[in-house]
Amino acid sequence: MVINMVSSLDGKVTTNSGKAGSIGSPVDRLIMRSLRSRVDAVMIGASTLRAEKLNLSVPEDLSRTRVSQGREPQPLAVLVSASGDLPLKENLLGPSPKDRLVFTVPGIPGECLATLSQLALVETLPVEGDSIDLRIALHVLKARHGVTVLLVEGGPSLNYSLVRGGLVDEIFLTLAPKLTGGQGPSSPGILHGPALPPGTDFSADLLSIHAAHGELFLRYHLKNLKTDPNS
Ligand SMILES: NC(=O)c1ccc[n+]([C@@H]2O[C@H](COP(=O)([O-])OP(=O)(O)OC[C@H]3O[C@@H](n4cnc5c(N)ncnc54)[C@H](OP(=O)(O)O)[C@@H]3O)[C@@H](O)[C@H]2O)c1
Repeated sequence: MVINMVSSLDGKVTTNSGKAGSIGSPVDRLIMRSLRSRVDAVMIGASTLRAEKLNLSVPEDLSRTRVSQGREPQPLAVLVSASGDLPLKENLLGPSPKDRLVFTVPGIPGECLATLSQLALVETLPVEGDSIDLRIALHVLKARHGVTVLLVEGGPSLNYSLVRGGLVDEIFLTLAPKLTGGQGPSSPGILHGPALPPGTDFSADLLSIHAAHGELFLRYHLKNLKTDPNS
């Protein structure tokens, strides 16, 4: 699994509007779409969809390349939400309902489930505390949906849980030459959550670095990936 994020020079992933769309350049968006073209599914957390309109699909030329490489025309769009508060109709542009999958929790209100089910395939998964067990989510993606390569595009809360769980292979990070300022929970970095536990190696190896138009495109491999013998 890989995470792809864009951050300002001061380490923030949202602007003061609470959106991320304006941080990266057109080159960053090109790379984002190129990454999407190479994966089976793109996952985001519910707050990322609530923040702004998103299109998780790839354009026609990349869709054709996917098909020529034996992939589905579009990556599966995977949305994670415990509340079921997902503005699929308003904010998710692009994939048709058959290319959308919502992971949610048992006990979601029936009305909400019915609404979501009209717009996406919905699966309820076991919870760990009051959140979906993301390791199980990855098993389900592989076993039921043939997802072997997953791209996660945030947000910081979802990233945090995945990194903390040792589920992330690589992080692609674009460092954009902008300063945003801001503080507190509304101005997160690429991970949002409590301090990572001591005693685990959360360092990363730099795999590549490219510069274009003032942006740095960084690719890191995380050391604490916990491979699962059953996966
Ligand atoms: N710069 C970038 O590259 C970038 C990329 C993505 C997002 N962003 C920005 O990041 C902000 C959103 O980030 P965020 O950290 O607030 O939120 P987030 O990670 O996008 O979403 C968090 C929400 O996802 C759901 N969720 C996550 N893990 C879950 C689990 N294990 N089980 C069940 N539900 C789970 C929950 O939804 P419910 O609340 O519905 O239960 C949770 O509140 C936005 O401002 C967005 O623009 C920036």
